Amino acid sequence: MTKKYTYGSPFFTGAVVKDLAIEATPIPYFKVCLEDGISFEYKMNDRDIVYGLGEASRGINKRGYVYDSYCSDDFCHLETTRSLYGAHNFILIEGEQTFGAFFDYPTKITFDIGFTKADTLKIFCNKADIDVYIIEGDSPLEIVKSFRQLIGKSYIPPRWAMGYMQSRWSYYTSDAVREVAKNYRKENIPLDAIFLDIDYMEDYKDFTINSERFGDLPQLIEEMKEEGIRLVPIIDAGVKIEDGYDIYEEGLEKGYYCVDKDGKPFKAGVWPGLTHFPDFLNEEAGLWFGLKYKALTDLGIEGFWNDMNEPAIFYSENGINRFYEKLSEITNGDKSVDNYNKIKDIVNSLQNSQEDYNSIYHNVNGKLIKHNDIHNMYGYKMTECTAKALKKLRPDERTLLFSRASYVGMHRCAGIWTGDNFSWWSHILLELKQLPALNMCGFLYVGADLGGFGNNASRDLVLRWLGLGIFTPLMRNHAALCTRDQECYQFENPEDFKNIIDLRYRLIPYLYSEFLKCAVEDKMFFKPLGFEYKDDEMARNCEDQLFVGEELMIAPVYTQNAIGRYVYLPEDMMSVRLKAGGELEFAEMAKGHHFVEIPLNEVVFFIRSGKCIPLCEPALSTDSLDMDNLTLIGFDGASYELYTDDGMSTDLSKIQKKTLEK
Ligand code: GLC
Repeated sequence: MTKKYTYGSPFFTGAVVKDLAIEATPIPYFKVCLEDGISFEYKMNDRDIVYGLGEASRGINKRGYVYDSYCSDDFCHLETTRSLYGAHNFILIEGEQTFGAFFDYPTKITFDIGFTKADTLKIFCNKADIDVYIIEGDSPLEIVKSFRQLIGKSYIPPRWAMGYMQSRWSYYTSDAVREVAKNYRKENIPLDAIFLDIDYMEDYKDFTINSERFGDLPQLIEEMKEEGIRLVPIIDAGVKIEDGYDIYEEGLEKGYYCVDKDGKPFKAGVWPGLTHFPDFLNEEAGLWFGLKYKALTDLGIEGFWNDMNEPAIFYSENGINRFYEKLSEITNGDKSVDNYNKIKDIVNSLQNSQEDYNSIYHNVNGKLIKHNDIHNMYGYKMTECTAKALKKLRPDERTLLFSRASYVGMHRCAGIWTGDNFSWWSHILLELKQLPALNMCGFLYVGADLGGFGNNASRDLVLRWLGLGIFTPLMRNHAALCTRDQECYQFENPEDFKNIIDLRYRLIPYLYSEFLKCAVEDKMFFKPLGFEYKDDEMARNCEDQLFVGEELMIAPVYTQNAIGRYVYLPEDMMSVRLKAGGELEFAEMAKGHHFVEIPLNEVVFFIRSGKCIPLCEPALSTDSLDMDNLTLIGFDGASYELYTDDGMSTDLSKIQKKTLEK
């Protein structure tokens, strides 16, 4: 049962697809206070767990910290980070009373989950214009399902996008891309896509191609496709200001950019230097930008990643002017070294500054709206416009699309990756914790930069991260500029990487089938153990294991030099051990605690009681997988309901179900 409570005049975000009547009765569970905006307070019971908030820092259980839902370009994903790239305002309280709550609010909203006062959950925002949805049901899973029905069906990527993908900022030339493909094929490591980061463009100008370094892009796309490898270019939100650049000029002429208070296009510095931000909240402007992807789809491109769309601002023209003013105030002709800290502070304050977000305006149906009043909509609307245009450009086939910034609602048209993490062991665990929370909000096609984006990755870190990554729908290894090469073949004994990635391909019949099931039936692909074992305190407390689909449980290793790990089985299960060389070893294990040894070149996962899963033979790309000859592994007498389709069609009525018996 879902009920809607409206306060003031909320901005229409489009997050919800059901038109519910507004309740006349006061909201249950929460004490509402209308001072300085609006706040909602709930007294938590000791045993309550608070799940949710999608892509946020900290635990599966969000208690004990304070989070700001405000799309932020923050590359430091620390324990103390309060905002990341997405804004996913759904929480689920499980305990004394179990219910879900979605706060549909387009800009910053704070969730203080027992941080200021240990027993108090307080949600507050500056303006009392908000829709709140309360979702009740018999179990967390039922509540999530109702929420998902409220917000609409999840995006389904083409099947090839569930293959292993390699990225780097940047592969600078077509030959560098060829080299990556060649090395993967040489080592017989499966690979489905190579990503093109900003350097494929001419001076970081969207929809251009650097003619010197990627002059043969059409041919490269063809060559790679023959190898079963797709190229996936990046598109950034900002359009470079440059006379003669047709897209810049067209947008200017048509008035499609966000403006400042005087109505002049706002100037923000991002990778290309000064840019204008297309006004994605203006439908016409959004569609105009979206249709520009044609420059690449015409060449045979079948996937994109949208970036810098919080939007990230390194500096602005106004900010730089303010900087020089402050600088002369501080120094006043004094060049003393003592000024260092003050200067450093004003330089740092240029990036993603509130002053800038407060100076940008959008044209929403002819009305000027301040950006900071709808900040969390920007990346969502960019990606929605992209998806709408891609439907026109490629009507029959699904296009891979994922974004960095997001809001609930965007899950209907794209996936997300979790942004600029680091090659840190703690970020393997952070990813694991974010996955179920993202699924709650409908984001099923998700994954982190495997191996870590920033810093140098060690061989063991990449191998262990793959141990989790082989289960995430989006499985992409990506690394930043100036970091150590992170492609699997760069490390010793690449056959260990091959073996683990081969396992991913063997699992694709299962993973893809579960993905389709979750998208069609509004289910979660990754579930916290406590969602199914509400009365089992060990399961409820478990922060480092997940159910994957209906049949599997995973317990990845995320600490360096570990010889294995403790695993908690909430029921009897069958462990499946991938040995070097590809052999699978099975063992039935009893409910309870176990220490499971897991050498670096092995992966262990668990099949749930009485279940089985389908496997196929590995192949070098998803296009060459033989999905018709499947083997079932797991418990004898079990059956599996397989969902399949042609892997690309936009017509979801083509999805077929088949029961397989072991
Ligand atoms: C941003 C993205 C990252 C990308 C880089 C250069 O930091 O998050 O993935 O590689 O920009 O485009």
